[in-house]
Amino acid sequence: MLDLFSEIEEPEREELKALRKELEEQNYKYYVLNAPTMSDREFDEKMHRLQALEAQFPDMYDPKSPTQHVGSDLGKKGFEQVKHRYPMLSLANSYSREEIEDWVRKLPSGVEIVCELKYDGLSISLWYEHGILVKALTRGDGQQGDNVIDNIKTIPSIPWKIDRTDIPEFFELRGEVLLPWERFEALNKEREQQEEPLFANPRNAASGTLKLQDPREVARRGLDAYLYYMLGENLPGATHYERLDTARQWGFHISDAIKVCKNVDEVMAYIAYWDTERKNLPVATDGIVLKVNNLAQQEELGYTAKTPRWAIAYKFPAEKQLTLLKEITYQVGRTGVVTPVANLEPVQLSGTIVQRATLHNEDFIRSLDIQPGDRVWVEKGGEIIPKIVGRADREPSDPRAPRTPSFPTHCPECGAELVRVPGEAAWRCPNEAGCPPQIKGKIEHFVSRKAMNIDGLGEETIDLLYRQNLLHNIADIYDLKLSDIAAQERLGEKSAQNILDGIEASKQVPWARVLFALGIRMVGETTAKKIARKYNTIDALQWATAEQLCAIEDVGPQIAENIVAYFNDIRNLEILERLRQAGVQFEGEAEAEPTSDKLAGLSIVISGTFSQHSRDEYKAMIEAHGGKNVGSVSKKTSFILAGENMGPEKRKKAEDLGIKLLTEDEFLGLIGS
Ligand code: IVH
Repeated sequence: MLDLFSEIEEPEREELKALRKELEEQNYKYYVLNAPTMSDREFDEKMHRLQALEAQFPDMYDPKSPTQHVGSDLGKKGFEQVKHRYPMLSLANSYSREEIEDWVRKLPSGVEIVCELKYDGLSISLWYEHGILVKALTRGDGQQGDNVIDNIKTIPSIPWKIDRTDIPEFFELRGEVLLPWERFEALNKEREQQEEPLFANPRNAASGTLKLQDPREVARRGLDAYLYYMLGENLPGATHYERLDTARQWGFHISDAIKVCKNVDEVMAYIAYWDTERKNLPVATDGIVLKVNNLAQQEELGYTAKTPRWAIAYKFPAEKQLTLLKEITYQVGRTGVVTPVANLEPVQLSGTIVQRATLHNEDFIRSLDIQPGDRVWVEKGGEIIPKIVGRADREPSDPRAPRTPSFPTHCPECGAELVRVPGEAAWRCPNEAGCPPQIKGKIEHFVSRKAMNIDGLGEETIDLLYRQNLLHNIADIYDLKLSDIAAQERLGEKSAQNILDGIEASKQVPWARVLFALGIRMVGETTAKKIARKYNTIDALQWATAEQLCAIEDVGPQIAENIVAYFNDIRNLEILERLRQAGVQFEGEAEAEPTSDKLAGLSIVISGTFSQHSRDEYKAMIEAHGGKNVGSVSKKTSFILAGENMGPEKRKKAEDLGIKLLTEDEFLGLIGS
């Protein structure tokens, strides 16, 4: 006889298993890859469904289920792993007044509730011992995290030391590390120019940045932090609000947007105000956090396995709008990748007008099943890059349904037949030397700041010179004459001369950066450095086999193939020969790896004469310890390494700006030499 019950239950048990797998995968994408593919709301809904199913089938209890632990960002190499003194928990989410009322109902009557902004970055735990910052831990799996203290020390608002006598021996401050909108947009712009994948939102960018092994790059990107929770023994204050106020007095960056509320109406008013006002903040927020103010009451309420009972998050609704997909156009990038772009009827979303959104590749369009004429959902949520998340149902009578739009077979720019490399999602135009956006893109990459750094030769000028047949490849740059450039609209003799000076100066750019500038597919800045360290002349590199190249750290078979293919192309060899004739550096001493990060993120001016080492030796020491030697004193200068007879003007400027002077001995002490 059929077991009717188990047959009915079976699909739900299967659903439970599938949900566990799906949520585990999402945790990995969110915490480790920094590339979630599901909205927070969808994640929460699935988590609730899983909780309900687990309650229905207690025999399927599993301590490893995603309902039983918080997601983990562990697993990146190179950081010390440290056990948290107090587990780093997550917060339960709510989305409506009703859910907030439900939560408040479970609290003792008359409690005070502190409302704070929910910053959308990643949590950090800062340990202070005797007033000194000794550890900075990521959440990790909630039990132990990575010690990213060197990267955290690049954040100007986080004190390395608290000089007070009224502080406890040990305390911990928790908060959120963020990449401000402005920095995030600049970083993505830079990545776009280099055809590196963009960060979907500032949270992912902050997370990727904090996990970098190079504090100098971290410092350059400009992280910030807001702190919202103080823990430890013998701390002053009986309420959360008082503790944060104390932390503020100790010099910590605590938001001013904190309010003690007495009832749900006041909470809702705070939410309504910040739902609009947050758009003017320099950093991303995705909700509000509500916390019981009284610490004794907090303790009484306690914790579940994953979240405190004394706090809850309210998430702002993701902004989503329906709009018309007018047309799909195709963009060709520097490496020939063809990217479909949705052209939309302009629509207001999170304070900006959206009229374009990337469709990534052919598979993405297929998965959405969209075509021009459809009404599509555009979402921005906490993210700045709008994305299309689905489409409205078509009318049953709509003659367009269903049809998958066909991806072009030929390049929209030059007409060459597109190719799709097996295993890659992208279609590519193979006409490297004849396709205008590829030609211009390669030149733009070559002159960019991290490559040859030729100032003044921007996108527009490159386009003008290209259209006049003066610029067809990177070698043509070195044949440009003053009159060619000065003849361009909006470019006078002065800017033309600046460009020529920039071109001249680029002949001093070291070999590793020249290699990066050549734009060999997948050879990024770091890979180029590693290759140049092994092959310190282009001639040596030209004859390297794919197998030999693969022996270099970070160089896999694909990159090795790309390098070999680059040198097998006669057109490239001609260009390289012309660059050599022009005086571009094709060889150089292998750049030394920094010996420490002690000066990471610091800009140091050297001034005066010295007795123990030469100026050049000091310069090399600064660089070897991760610092930057700069020529003139400004408010960005960290300190001045001051010798005898320092110029009076520099001294005055340093005094005015309050910049410290270090003697030779002090400097050598600092780097432990
Ligand atoms: S309190 C035990 N306050 O939200 C609870 N968290 O979804 C400690 N977050 O892991 C957290 N702003 O990274 C708190 N004002 C705020 C916050 C905040 C952002 C983050 C935090 C936490 C996550 C939970």
